[in-house]
Amino acid sequence: MTRTAFVAGATGYTGRAVVRLLTERDIDVVAHVRPDSSRLQEWKSHFTEIGARVDTTPWEKAQMRKTLQREEPDLLFYLIGTTRARDRKSNEDNSYEAIDYGLFKLLLDACEEAGAEPRVVYLSAIGVRSSARSAYYRVRWRAEEKLRDSGLAYLIARPAMITGPNRDEIRVLERAGGMLADVASGGLRLIGASRLADRYRSRTNVELATALVEHALEPESAQVVLEGEDLG
Ligand SMILES: NC(=O)c1ccc[n+]([C@@H]2O[C@H](COP(=O)([O-])OP(=O)(O)OC[C@H]3O[C@@H](n4cnc5c(N)ncnc54)[C@H](OP(=O)(O)O)[C@@H]3O)[C@@H](O)[C@H]2O)c1
Repeated sequence: MTRTAFVAGATGYTGRAVVRLLTERDIDVVAHVRPDSSRLQEWKSHFTEIGARVDTTPWEKAQMRKTLQREEPDLLFYLIGTTRARDRKSNEDNSYEAIDYGLFKLLLDACEEAGAEPRVVYLSAIGVRSSARSAYYRVRWRAEEKLRDSGLAYLIARPAMITGPNRDEIRVLERAGGMLADVASGGLRLIGASRLADRYRSRTNVELATALVEHALEPESAQVVLEGEDLG
C-alpha cells in the first residue's frame, strides 16, 4: 500500500497532473516546490486546495536527507527537467548536467543517506541511450543508469512529446513537433504499425500522468522501463 508520495517537479506540466491524480486516490502527497519559485504562494494555495502538502526543502543534500527521513515516502517521482531556453535566460547553472542529472543524483544520494527506499518514478524521454548525440539524451541515460545502480525499485518512462492545449508555457517548437509526430504516427497506424505509432505520438500531461500513477501503484512494477506504447 502506498501511503506517501514525494513529487519532485510538482509544478511542471506533468508534475501538477501527477499530484492531482495521486490526491484523488487518497494518497498523502508531498508536492515539492523550489523555495525560490517565483510562483511559490500560488503553488502553495493550489496544492493545498487539492489536498496535497507542500514542501520547499532547498536543493541541498543534507536538508533533503532530513526531509526524506521525516516523510519516509514509498513513492518518489522525479519529473524535473530544464530546457535550453531556461538555460539561456538564467545566470545560474541550469544545464542538463546540473538539473536533469545533478538534482536527480542529489535526491538519490539523499535517499541513501536517509535510509529511505521509495520506488522511484523517473521521467526520461524517447531516444535516451548511451550513444546518443545530444547532451540531453546522454545526460538522461546517465541518470537512468544511476537509478538502475541504486538498488531501488524503479519505473523509468520514456514518452515522446508531452504537450497539449492546456500547457501554460508557450512552446511553439514542441507543440509543432508534437503535431508532426502525431501525423506521422497516424500514418504508421494506417499501415498497421500501431505499436510504433503509439511510441511516437504525443501525450497530454493528464494522459501521461495517468499511466505513470497506474504503473507506479502496481505492486509488481519493481524494475520497469516503459516506452511510449506502454504509456496508455
Ligand atoms: N516536454 C516534452 O515534450 C518532454 C518529452 C519527453 C520527456 N520530457 C521530460 O519530462 C520531464 C517533465 O516534462 P514537463 O514538460 O512536465 O516539464 P516542465 O513543465 O518544463 O516542468 C519542469 C519541472 O522541472 C522544474 N525545474 C526546472 N528547472 C529547475 C531547477 N533549476 N531547479 C529546480 N527545479 C527545476 C520546474 O520547476 P519550476 O516550475 O519551479 O521552474 C518544473 O517543476 C522533463 O524532464 C523533460 O525533459 C519532456
